[in-house]
Amino acid sequence: MAQLELRGVGKTYPSGTRALRDVSFSLEQGTFLSVIGPSGAGKTTLFRILNGMERCSAGEVLYQGIPFGSARGRRKRAVQKGIGTIYQDFCLVEQADCLQNVLNAALPDMHPLTGALGIFSRQQRLEAEALLERVGLGDKRDACVRELSGGQKQRVAIARALMRRPALLLADEPVASLDPVTGRQILELLRDIQGEAGVTILMNSHNLELARAFSQRLLGLHGGAVVFDGPPEALDDTALRAVYGEEGACGSV
Ligand SMILES: Nc1ncnc2c1ncn2[C@@H]1O[C@H](COP(=O)(O)OP(=O)(O)OP(=O)(O)O)[C@@H](O)[C@H]1O
Ligand SMILES: [Mg+2]
Repeated sequence: MAQLELRGVGKTYPSGTRALRDVSFSLEQGTFLSVIGPSGAGKTTLFRILNGMERCSAGEVLYQGIPFGSARGRRKRAVQKGIGTIYQDFCLVEQADCLQNVLNAALPDMHPLTGALGIFSRQQRLEAEALLERVGLGDKRDACVRELSGGQKQRVAIARALMRRPALLLADEPVASLDPVTGRQILELLRDIQGEAGVTILMNSHNLELARAFSQRLLGLHGGAVVFDGPPEALDDTALRAVYGEEGACGSV
C-alpha cells in the first residue's frame, strides 16, 4: 500500500482561485520527492492540504489507506502524528532555548496540566537531547533560538519535527532563507534522516538544482495541475517548459 495517495485533488479558495486541479499521485514510504513549479503553481496549497491546514474541495487524500476526510479520534491523531512539517521561516519559539523548542513537539500528546506546567519526563528530555545531537546541535541545548543562525534554526526545527517520530516529513521551502552552502547541508541532513529512519521527505523548492540533486522523484505543478512526474533525469527541456513555461526553461527559475 502507498504511504500517501492523492486522488483527483482540487482546491478552489473562497475567492474563486483554483489553486489545484485534479492532482493525483501516490508515494511509497522512504521516498525523497520534490514538488517544483513557478510561483502560484499551488505548491504551498498542496502542502497545507497534506498537513491538515486546508481541506481539499474535490477528490481525496489517503494516508496509509485512511482517507483524511473520514479520519476521526485516534485514527485522525495517528494521521496527524505521522506527518511532520518544517517551514521556510522555521516557526520556532525565538525566546526559548533549543531543548525547550524540541520538547514543545511533545505537548499535544501530554496531559494538559503537565503540558502547561512544562513537566517533561526524563525519557522525553533524553530523546530531545539525542535529536539535537543528531542534527549537529548537541552543544546548543541551552542556547536561546534567537541567538542562532538560520541554518542552526532549521536544524532545531528538524529536531522538533522528528520528536514526533513522523513517517512523512513535509518541507515547504526549507532552504529558501538560507545561503547555498547552508541550504545544501540542511538537505544533506534531510537525506540522511530519510536513509536512516526511512522517513519520506516531501519538499517544495524553487531551487531546481538542489531539488534535482537530492530528490528521487520530481512532481512538476503548473497552474495547479501536475505536468511532470518522474525522476530528475527525465526532466528534459520539454518537461521544463511544461513546468515553468518558456522563460523558466531558459534558466531563470
Ligand atoms: N489563502 C488563500 N486564499 C486565496 N487564494 C490563495 C490562498 N493561498 C494561495 N492562494 C492562491 O492560490 C494559488 C496557489 O498559491 P500557492 O501559495 O499554493 O502557490 P505556490 O506554488 O506555493 O507559490 P510560491 O512559489 O510563490 O510560494 C495562487 O494563485 C495564490 O494566489
Ligand atoms: Mg509557496
